Amino acid sequence: MQVTKTVEETRNLVKNWKKEGKSIGLVPTMGFLHEGHASLIQRCREENDIVVVSDFVNPTQFGPTEDLEAYPRDFARDSALCEGLGADLIFNPEPENMYSNPHAFVNIDLLSETLCGKTRPIHFKGVCTVVSKLFNTVAPDRAYFGQKDAQQLAIIRKMVEDLNFDIQIVGCPIVREADGLAKSSRNTYLDENERKAALCLSRAVKKGQEVIHAGAAAQDVLTEMKAIIEAEPLAEIDYVSMVDALTMQPVEKAEKDVLVAMAVYIGKTRLIDNFSYEV
Ligand code: PAJ
Repeated sequence: MQVTKTVEETRNLVKNWKKEGKSIGLVPTMGFLHEGHASLIQRCREENDIVVVSDFVNPTQFGPTEDLEAYPRDFARDSALCEGLGADLIFNPEPENMYSNPHAFVNIDLLSETLCGKTRPIHFKGVCTVVSKLFNTVAPDRAYFGQKDAQQLAIIRKMVEDLNFDIQIVGCPIVREADGLAKSSRNTYLDENERKAALCLSRAVKKGQEVIHAGAAAQDVLTEMKAIIEAEPLAEIDYVSMVDALTMQPVEKAEKDVLVAMAVYIGKTRLIDNFSYEV
């Protein structure tokens, strides 16, 4: 497995692989890898000749008061995990290799304004910009994203369509802990009590799935889900919403494919979870 730090080195390796006619898969990550990331890398390994993992804590997707400095990092561990999963390359740039100042940005508005975009107004602009840069550096045939970040996945799909990236986007299911908590690098912020409290997210997801199947209106589904979270003293709701799966705009009823998504503060840690419902 190779490690590159610059766009140029990465491009040179990719060019040689392409000359040999090899297909390339990309798994973009911010590192501190867990089984959720591993599931994407495994799927990428199965479907491509070459597996590239990017490992970069992207500063432009963090707001000024967010956890950029505190975000967990462990490149040695990430590197061992990628090697064990059969990755061919980790692209691990420094921010100064990626960004000049001033810098161009890619923004997919409308989809970026609801759900997480309300509390994190610059987040998806940073995500779209870095993912475009990664796409232009690695030029993959396929790129892998988790449904854990369902709004991000929908925005990337829209970006690829609108900007004519010739890349297949593969969405992968949410990987959870045995007790239901969705795996996340940010789970490391939780203390013992918060870790227990965090289970209200997956419990609310389960409840929502039960209720929606019975054909309830959005308001009723969301009320039942919110009740579970509100019963947990350490939890504070940022949002619990039902949106159209493609446009990310609120809907009253699940008449088309929808996403039911939430963000909840457990103490100071903001966690997300969701489920999709296909009609
Ligand atoms: P990061 O949070 O590191 O996640 C990288 C990828 O792993 C994303 O596609 C995310 O949805 C997926 N993932 C995380 N937890 C998961 C879980 N429990 N189950 C399944 N997949 C999971 O998302 C980002 O980084 C960044 O925004 C990035 C796209 C890399 C741009 O900087």
